[in-house]
Amino acid sequence: MSSTSGIAIIGAGLSGLTLALALHRQNIPCTIYESREASLDIGGALMLSPNALKVLDALGVYKNIAPLGHHFEKLYFHSDDDTPVDDFDFGSQERHGFKALRIYRYELINVLVSMVREAGIPVEFQKKFDHVVSESSTSVTWAFADGSTASAKLLVGADGIHSRVRKHLYPDLTPKFTNMIGVSAAVPRAQLRAEPDYPLPVTIMSPKHGAFVIAPQLADGSEVFIGKPKRLQEEYDRAGWDELLNNKTWCVDFLREGSADFPPIVANAVSNIPLKGINLWPFYVVPKLDNWARGRVVILGDAAHAIPPTAGQGVNQAFEDVYTFAGIVAKVQQKKQSEDDKEDAVRIGKALKNWQLGRQARVDRVLDLNDKVNKRRLPDAVKAGNFEPFDMDWLYDVDFDQMIAEWAN
Ligand SMILES: Cc1cc2nc3c(=O)[nH]c(=O)nc-3n(C[C@H](O)[C@H](O)[C@H](O)COP(=O)(O)OP(=O)(O)OC[C@H]3O[C@@H](n4cnc5c(N)ncnc54)[C@H](O)[C@@H]3O)c2cc1C
Ligand SMILES: *[C@@H]1O[C@H](CO)[C@@H](O)[C@H](O)[C@H]1NC(C)=O
Repeated sequence: MSSTSGIAIIGAGLSGLTLALALHRQNIPCTIYESREASLDIGGALMLSPNALKVLDALGVYKNIAPLGHHFEKLYFHSDDDTPVDDFDFGSQERHGFKALRIYRYELINVLVSMVREAGIPVEFQKKFDHVVSESSTSVTWAFADGSTASAKLLVGADGIHSRVRKHLYPDLTPKFTNMIGVSAAVPRAQLRAEPDYPLPVTIMSPKHGAFVIAPQLADGSEVFIGKPKRLQEEYDRAGWDELLNNKTWCVDFLREGSADFPPIVANAVSNIPLKGINLWPFYVVPKLDNWARGRVVILGDAAHAIPPTAGQGVNQAFEDVYTFAGIVAKVQQKKQSEDDKEDAVRIGKALKNWQLGRQARVDRVLDLNDKVNKRRLPDAVKAGNFEPFDMDWLYDVDFDQMIAEWAN
């Protein structure tokens, strides 16, 4: 970016692309830089809840993705004899304005990329951010791995859990492996041989083997995700994880392990596992950070707060980040008096601090919700049953514009 008036976004993943649309809506120019030839598609589908869908709706994305995914309301929990014990509200038209949407990541990325293109927002691929070179009171300059440099008014790291931009704020920090992985596959729903009214998506809890998840995907629900978490002592490097993922025998064997101790639907689910849909997800977390911004460098999405998948909020929280961030920057910009307004940097710093504290408070509540959900999935808790529904209103019925107004003050 030759002009320093705009915002530079590092990473064309879900956070980066959505941030670009959110900034565009506020008439703030931006450029995206992505290290790969195309946005990273980790594979598999995502569950989007009403808080994220509210953001995507405001940006005009929802109407384009709604026909591409599977709409549902609750996640059901069954004991190992297939008795319903609990459910988890993931969305509702009546209560929260939106049903939940399960959509393949590549479908969502394709829609976002084409909307970014239509908006005329530049995206430069094969540009890998390397390090910040210098900062002045009005701009920041950084270098790419190819040795070239660029400048912008703000540099936003939307570069995922292993963020390179975060190194500028925390040179020594690395994400922590939780010793849990998820292994999953995709099979035709018909293979389950379940009654048409069998409640899906479902998590079946076995005291011996843990959870087995079955979740419909594709618009007509004709395919289901099947997956299991696994405790794993060893941690691998990227090549090691890839090797495990490519060890399809290992993945299939793990998915099949103990299926006789589950209700018959599980044995049916794993009876024929196409190798092509197999996925392996090692769960990493980023420890709570004191700063998501310093000077003119900001991080958001997984770079700032990778969240364990228990309540399904990982990427949903990233959408909250980008929408509120764009709103804050726009509000501060409106207050700017002139190009050499000395107070501008101070106002940005203050507003971004409020933004971080407000966003962190919600992320903390999500982490707390994760803990509560995990406790209910323990064998003794499942046996006792009789659960109160979780309060989800704070999470789903949220007014982001009001938050922005408060945080920008
Ligand atoms: C297998 C798997 C399944 C998942 N399933 C779910 C789910 O069901 N629900 C859920 O909520 N979450 C899920 N997650 C987590 C979810 O994927 C993340 O929360 C989400 O991708 C975060 O988006 P992001 O844009 O912040 O980061 P990413 O999606 O990681 O995007 C970062 C982008 O930045 C680019 N980049 C990285 N470094 C640089 C650099 N130095 N310079 C330029 N570009 C760079 C990358 O190539 C990438 O395109 C899953 C994760 C995995 C791995
Ligand atoms: C796959 O994993 C199994 C079990 O850990 C191991 O015995 C086997 O050697 C692995 N295969 C390959 C090709 O790595």
